[in-house]
Amino acid sequence: MPANSATLEIRGVTRRFGKNTAVSDINIAIPQGQMVGIIGRSGAGKSTLLRMINRLIDPSQGSIFFDGAEVSKLSGSPLRRWQRDCAMIFQQFNLVPRLDVLTNVLLGKLNHRSTITNLFGMFSRAECAEAVAALERLDIARTALQPAGTLSGGQQQRVAIARAMMQQPRVILADEPIASLDPLNAKVVMDSLQDINLREGITVVTNLHTLDTARTYCNRIIGMAAGKVVFDGPPEELNREAVRLVYGADSNGQEISEAITSTSVAFSRKIAASAGPLEPAFPGY
Ligand SMILES: Nc1ncnc2c1ncn2[C@@H]1O[C@H](COP(=O)(O)OP(=O)(O)OP(=O)(O)O)[C@@H](O)[C@H]1O
Ligand SMILES: [Mg+2]
Repeated sequence: MPANSATLEIRGVTRRFGKNTAVSDINIAIPQGQMVGIIGRSGAGKSTLLRMINRLIDPSQGSIFFDGAEVSKLSGSPLRRWQRDCAMIFQQFNLVPRLDVLTNVLLGKLNHRSTITNLFGMFSRAECAEAVAALERLDIARTALQPAGTLSGGQQQRVAIARAMMQQPRVILADEPIASLDPLNAKVVMDSLQDINLREGITVVTNLHTLDTARTYCNRIIGMAAGKVVFDGPPEELNREAVRLVYGADSNGQEISEAITSTSVAFSRKIAASAGPLEPAFPGY
Protein backbone atom coordinates (compact mmCIF):
# COMPACT_ATOMS: atom_id res chain seq x y z
CA MET A 1 0.00 0.00 0.00
CA PRO A 2 1.29 3.49 -0.74
CA ALA A 3 1.94 5.64 2.31
CA ASN A 4 -0.70 8.16 1.27
CA SER A 5 -3.76 5.91 1.06
CA ALA A 6 -6.71 7.74 -0.35
CA THR A 7 -10.40 7.07 -0.73
CA LEU A 8 -12.39 7.70 -3.89
CA GLU A 9 -15.79 9.01 -2.84
CA ILE A 10 -18.81 9.43 -5.03
CA ARG A 11 -21.44 11.51 -3.25
CA GLY A 12 -24.97 11.84 -4.57
CA VAL A 13 -23.84 11.73 -8.19
CA THR A 14 -26.46 11.95 -10.94
CA ARG A 15 -25.94 12.33 -14.67
CA ARG A 16 -28.74 13.17 -17.06
CA PHE A 17 -28.67 13.19 -20.85
CA GLY A 18 -31.72 15.24 -21.81
CA LYS A 19 -34.66 13.51 -20.14
CA ASN A 20 -32.75 10.26 -19.66
CA THR A 21 -31.11 9.75 -16.25
CA ALA A 22 -28.06 7.55 -16.93
CA VAL A 23 -26.72 7.60 -13.35
CA SER A 24 -29.02 8.33 -10.45
CA ASP A 25 -27.90 9.52 -6.99
CA ILE A 26 -24.95 7.19 -6.54
CA ASN A 27 -23.07 7.10 -3.23
CA ILE A 28 -19.95 4.92 -3.03
CA ALA A 29 -16.68 5.14 -1.10
CA ILE A 30 -13.78 3.08 -2.47
CA PRO A 31 -10.72 2.89 -0.18
CA GLN A 32 -7.29 2.84 -1.84
CA GLY A 33 -6.28 -0.63 -2.95
CA GLN A 34 -9.66 -2.22 -3.62
CA MET A 35 -10.35 -4.11 -6.84
CA VAL A 36 -13.95 -3.27 -7.68
CA GLY A 37 -16.04 -4.82 -10.45
CA ILE A 38 -19.08 -2.91 -11.70
CA ILE A 39 -21.69 -5.15 -13.30
CA GLY A 40 -25.09 -4.54 -14.84
CA ARG A 41 -27.07 -4.82 -18.03
CA SER A 42 -26.28 -2.76 -21.08
CA GLY A 43 -27.39 0.84 -20.46
CA ALA A 44 -27.25 0.51 -16.65
CA GLY A 45 -24.89 3.51 -16.45
CA LYS A 46 -21.54 1.76 -15.86
CA SER A 47 -19.53 3.67 -18.47
CA THR A 48 -21.16 6.97 -17.57
CA LEU A 49 -20.07 6.48 -13.95
CA LEU A 50 -16.44 5.72 -14.90
CA ARG A 51 -16.33 8.64 -17.31
CA MET A 52 -17.50 11.00 -14.58
CA ILE A 53 -14.81 9.75 -12.19
CA ASN A 54 -12.14 10.48 -14.81
CA ARG A 55 -13.90 13.78 -15.69
CA LEU A 56 -14.41 12.86 -19.34
CA ILE A 57 -17.94 14.04 -18.56
CA ASP A 58 -19.28 16.02 -15.62
CA PRO A 59 -22.02 15.04 -13.16
CA SER A 60 -25.35 16.87 -13.44
CA GLN A 61 -25.50 16.75 -9.62
CA GLY A 62 -23.31 15.55 -6.77
CA SER A 63 -19.58 15.51 -6.10
CA ILE A 64 -16.60 13.20 -6.52
CA PHE A 65 -13.71 13.35 -4.05
CA PHE A 66 -10.29 11.72 -4.04
CA ASP A 67 -7.94 12.01 -1.11
CA GLY A 68 -10.15 14.77 0.29
CA ALA A 69 -10.01 16.93 -2.88
CA GLU A 70 -13.16 17.55 -4.89
CA VAL A 71 -12.12 16.26 -8.31
CA SER A 72 -15.52 17.12 -9.79
CA LYS A 73 -14.60 20.82 -9.36
CA LEU A 74 -11.05 20.74 -10.76
CA SER A 75 -9.97 22.60 -13.88
CA GLY A 76 -6.69 23.45 -15.61
CA SER A 77 -3.52 21.79 -14.37
CA PRO A 78 -5.07 20.25 -11.19
CA LEU A 79 -7.61 18.53 -13.48
CA ARG A 80 -4.78 17.23 -15.70
CA ARG A 81 -2.99 15.99 -12.58
CA TRP A 82 -6.13 14.09 -11.56
CA GLN A 83 -6.46 12.58 -15.02
CA ARG A 84 -2.84 11.43 -14.69
CA ASP A 85 -3.52 9.94 -11.24
CA CYS A 86 -6.61 8.21 -12.59
CA ALA A 87 -5.62 6.22 -15.70
CA MET A 88 -8.29 4.89 -18.03
CA ILE A 89 -8.33 1.66 -20.04
CA PHE A 90 -10.90 1.06 -22.76
CA GLN A 91 -12.45 -1.94 -24.50
CA GLN A 92 -10.91 -0.91 -27.84
CA PHE A 93 -7.42 -0.29 -26.35
CA ASN A 94 -7.13 3.25 -27.86
CA LEU A 95 -3.54 2.76 -29.07
CA VAL A 96 -2.06 4.50 -32.10
CA PRO A 97 -1.88 1.47 -34.42
CA ARG A 98 0.90 2.72 -36.74
CA LEU A 99 3.21 3.75 -33.92
CA ASP A 100 5.43 1.11 -32.38
CA VAL A 101 4.53 -0.38 -29.03
CA LEU A 102 7.32 1.42 -27.14
CA THR A 103 6.18 4.84 -28.39
CA ASN A 104 2.58 4.03 -27.49
CA VAL A 105 3.70 3.24 -23.95
CA LEU A 106 5.81 6.40 -23.75
CA LEU A 107 2.71 8.44 -24.65
CA GLY A 108 1.54 7.64 -21.11
CA LYS A 109 4.26 10.04 -19.94
CA LEU A 110 2.99 13.02 -21.93
CA ASN A 111 1.02 14.61 -19.15
CA HIS A 112 3.99 14.30 -16.79
CA ARG A 113 5.87 16.78 -18.96
CA SER A 114 5.51 20.41 -19.95
CA THR A 115 3.95 21.22 -23.32
CA ILE A 116 7.27 22.62 -24.55
CA THR A 117 9.13 19.41 -23.67
CA ASN A 118 6.43 17.41 -25.41
CA LEU A 119 6.66 19.53 -28.55
CA PHE A 120 10.42 19.61 -28.89
CA GLY A 121 11.92 16.93 -26.72
CA MET A 122 12.52 13.29 -27.44
CA PHE A 123 11.82 10.89 -24.63
CA SER A 124 14.75 10.58 -22.22
CA ARG A 125 16.76 7.38 -21.70
CA ALA A 126 15.19 7.05 -18.24
CA GLU A 127 11.68 7.29 -19.72
CA CYS A 128 12.53 4.68 -22.38
CA ALA A 129 13.94 2.37 -19.71
CA GLU A 130 10.77 2.83 -17.65
CA ALA A 131 8.62 1.99 -20.70
CA VAL A 132 10.65 -1.16 -21.41
CA ALA A 133 10.31 -2.17 -17.75
CA ALA A 134 6.53 -1.67 -17.97
CA LEU A 135 6.42 -3.88 -21.08
CA GLU A 136 8.57 -6.50 -19.36
CA ARG A 137 6.25 -6.42 -16.38
CA LEU A 138 3.38 -7.28 -18.74
CA ASP A 139 5.47 -9.89 -20.57
CA ILE A 140 5.33 -8.16 -23.97
CA ALA A 141 8.76 -6.47 -24.16
CA ARG A 142 9.60 -8.49 -27.27
CA THR A 143 6.86 -6.62 -29.19
CA ALA A 144 8.40 -3.19 -28.33
CA LEU A 145 9.38 -2.28 -31.91
CA GLN A 146 6.31 -3.67 -33.69
CA PRO A 147 3.52 -1.34 -34.84
CA ALA A 148 0.86 -1.63 -32.12
CA GLY A 149 -1.80 -2.47 -34.71
CA THR A 150 -0.04 -5.75 -35.58
CA LEU A 151 -0.48 -7.20 -32.08
CA SER A 152 -3.29 -9.51 -30.96
CA GLY A 153 -6.12 -7.95 -28.96
CA GLY A 154 -4.81 -9.37 -25.70
CA GLN A 155 -1.33 -8.00 -26.38
CA GLN A 156 -2.75 -4.59 -27.33
CA GLN A 157 -4.67 -4.41 -24.08
CA ARG A 158 -1.48 -5.20 -22.18
CA VAL A 159 0.25 -2.35 -24.05
CA ALA A 160 -2.62 -0.09 -22.94
CA ILE A 161 -2.07 -1.22 -19.34
CA ALA A 162 1.69 -0.54 -19.67
CA ARG A 163 0.87 2.94 -21.02
CA ALA A 164 -1.46 3.51 -18.05
CA MET A 165 1.32 2.41 -15.66
CA MET A 166 3.63 5.10 -17.14
CA GLN A 167 1.23 7.66 -15.67
CA GLN A 168 2.11 6.24 -12.22
CA PRO A 169 -1.60 6.27 -11.44
CA ARG A 170 -3.22 5.88 -8.05
CA VAL A 171 -6.45 4.62 -9.61
CA ILE A 172 -7.02 2.60 -12.79
CA LEU A 173 -10.47 2.77 -14.37
CA ALA A 174 -11.09 0.02 -16.93
CA ASP A 175 -14.23 0.10 -19.08
CA GLU A 176 -14.94 -3.44 -20.29
CA PRO A 177 -11.21 -4.20 -20.69
CA ILE A 178 -11.82 -7.78 -21.84
CA ALA A 179 -15.05 -7.44 -23.81
CA SER A 180 -13.23 -7.74 -27.17
CA LEU A 181 -10.96 -10.60 -26.12
CA ASP A 182 -11.24 -14.37 -26.28
CA PRO A 183 -11.33 -16.10 -22.88
CA LEU A 184 -7.61 -16.95 -22.76
CA ASN A 185 -6.49 -13.40 -23.53
CA ALA A 186 -9.17 -12.11 -21.16
CA LYS A 187 -7.56 -14.12 -18.36
CA VAL A 188 -4.07 -12.75 -19.11
CA VAL A 189 -5.38 -9.16 -19.04
CA MET A 190 -7.39 -9.65 -15.83
CA ASP A 191 -4.39 -11.38 -14.20
CA SER A 192 -2.27 -8.32 -15.11
CA LEU A 193 -4.77 -5.88 -13.57
CA GLN A 194 -5.02 -8.02 -10.45
CA ASP A 195 -1.23 -8.21 -10.14
CA ILE A 196 -0.95 -4.41 -10.38
CA ASN A 197 -3.72 -4.02 -7.79
CA LEU A 198 -2.09 -6.44 -5.36
CA ARG A 199 1.55 -5.45 -5.80
CA GLU A 200 1.28 -1.66 -6.17
CA GLY A 201 -1.91 -1.16 -4.13
CA ILE A 202 -3.42 0.78 -7.03
CA THR A 203 -7.22 0.96 -6.82
CA VAL A 204 -8.81 -0.76 -9.83
CA VAL A 205 -12.42 -0.06 -10.79
CA THR A 206 -13.52 -2.09 -13.79
CA ASN A 207 -16.78 -2.46 -15.66
CA LEU A 208 -17.38 -6.07 -16.55
CA HIS A 209 -20.05 -7.74 -18.63
CA THR A 210 -19.52 -11.10 -17.06
CA LEU A 211 -20.29 -12.18 -13.54
CA ASP A 212 -17.76 -14.97 -13.28
CA THR A 213 -14.91 -12.56 -14.06
CA ALA A 214 -16.14 -10.14 -11.39
CA ARG A 215 -16.44 -12.98 -8.88
CA THR A 216 -12.96 -14.32 -9.67
CA TYR A 217 -10.99 -11.09 -9.63
CA CYS A 218 -12.79 -8.47 -7.57
CA ASN A 219 -12.98 -8.19 -3.79
CA ARG A 220 -15.99 -5.92 -4.13
CA ILE A 221 -18.80 -6.03 -6.67
CA ILE A 222 -21.11 -3.11 -7.40
CA GLY A 223 -24.26 -4.02 -9.30
CA MET A 224 -26.04 -1.28 -11.23
CA ALA A 225 -29.52 -1.28 -12.72
CA ALA A 226 -31.19 1.71 -14.40
CA GLY A 227 -28.53 4.10 -13.12
CA LYS A 228 -28.77 3.02 -9.47
CA VAL A 229 -26.58 0.85 -7.25
CA VAL A 230 -28.66 -2.25 -6.44
CA PHE A 231 -25.86 -4.38 -4.98
CA ASP A 232 -22.61 -3.48 -3.23
CA GLY A 233 -20.68 -6.18 -1.45
CA PRO A 234 -18.15 -9.00 -1.63
CA PRO A 235 -18.59 -11.71 -4.30
CA GLU A 236 -19.80 -14.26 -1.75
CA GLU A 237 -22.84 -12.08 -1.00
CA LEU A 238 -23.83 -11.91 -4.66
CA ASN A 239 -26.49 -14.61 -4.39
CA ARG A 240 -29.34 -15.50 -6.77
CA GLU A 241 -31.59 -12.77 -5.43
CA ALA A 242 -28.83 -10.14 -5.85
CA VAL A 243 -28.12 -11.34 -9.39
CA ARG A 244 -31.83 -11.01 -10.18
CA LEU A 245 -31.81 -7.44 -8.82
CA VAL A 246 -28.86 -6.53 -11.05
CA TYR A 247 -29.83 -8.29 -14.25
CA GLY A 248 -33.60 -8.56 -13.71
CA ALA A 249 -35.67 -10.68 -16.01
CA ASP A 250 -35.37 -10.88 -19.80
CA SER A 251 -38.02 -9.61 -22.20
CA ASN A 252 -39.97 -12.90 -21.86
CA GLY A 253 -40.07 -12.58 -18.08
CA GLN A 254 -37.48 -15.35 -17.71
CA GLU A 255 -34.82 -14.85 -15.07
CA ILE A 256 -31.35 -14.19 -16.46
CA SER A 257 -29.25 -17.33 -16.07
CA GLU A 258 -25.76 -16.78 -14.71
CA ALA A 259 -24.46 -18.89 -17.60
CA ILE A 260 -25.22 -16.19 -20.17
CA THR A 261 -23.06 -13.73 -18.25
CA SER A 262 -20.14 -16.17 -18.31
CA THR A 263 -16.83 -15.90 -20.14
CA SER A 264 -15.51 -19.17 -18.78
CA VAL A 265 -13.45 -21.00 -21.37
CA ALA A 266 -15.66 -24.08 -21.19
CA PHE A 267 -18.87 -22.11 -21.67
CA SER A 268 -17.54 -19.76 -24.31
CA ARG A 269 -16.14 -22.65 -26.33
CA LYS A 270 -19.71 -23.89 -26.73
CA ILE A 271 -20.74 -20.52 -28.17
CA ALA A 272 -17.53 -20.25 -30.23
CA ALA A 273 -17.95 -23.72 -31.70
CA SER A 274 -20.34 -22.43 -34.35
CA ALA A 275 -18.08 -19.45 -35.11
CA GLY A 276 -14.92 -21.54 -35.60
CA PRO A 277 -11.83 -22.06 -33.42
CA LEU A 278 -10.66 -19.52 -30.82
CA GLU A 279 -7.89 -17.12 -31.83
CA PRO A 280 -4.56 -18.39 -30.42
CA ALA A 281 -3.44 -16.48 -27.33
CA PHE A 282 -0.17 -15.26 -28.88
CA PRO A 283 -0.36 -15.41 -32.66
CA GLY A 284 2.97 -14.99 -34.36
CA TYR A 285 5.03 -16.70 -31.65
N1 LIG B 1 -23.27 10.91 -24.54
C1 LIG B 1 -24.50 10.44 -24.32
N2 LIG B 1 -25.59 11.08 -24.82
C2 LIG B 1 -26.83 10.62 -24.58
N3 LIG B 1 -27.11 9.52 -23.86
C3 LIG B 1 -26.09 8.84 -23.34
C4 LIG B 1 -24.72 9.26 -23.55
N4 LIG B 1 -23.90 8.39 -22.92
C5 LIG B 1 -24.71 7.45 -22.34
N5 LIG B 1 -26.02 7.73 -22.60
C6 LIG B 1 -27.17 6.95 -22.13
O1 LIG B 1 -26.99 6.72 -20.74
C7 LIG B 1 -27.42 5.43 -20.40
C8 LIG B 1 -26.29 4.66 -19.73
O2 LIG B 1 -25.28 4.42 -20.70
P1 LIG B 1 -23.89 3.75 -20.34
O3 LIG B 1 -23.07 3.79 -21.59
O4 LIG B 1 -23.34 4.40 -19.13
O5 LIG B 1 -24.34 2.27 -19.99
P2 LIG B 1 -23.43 0.97 -19.73
O6 LIG B 1 -23.91 0.37 -18.45
O7 LIG B 1 -22.01 1.34 -19.83
O8 LIG B 1 -23.88 0.01 -20.93
P3 LIG B 1 -23.00 -1.06 -21.76
O9 LIG B 1 -22.94 -2.29 -20.90
O10 LIG B 1 -23.78 -1.28 -23.00
O11 LIG B 1 -21.65 -0.45 -22.03
C9 LIG B 1 -27.94 4.78 -21.68
O12 LIG B 1 -29.32 4.95 -21.75
C10 LIG B 1 -27.22 5.58 -22.75
O13 LIG B 1 -27.98 5.59 -23.94
MG1 LIG C 1 -20.48 0.75 -21.09
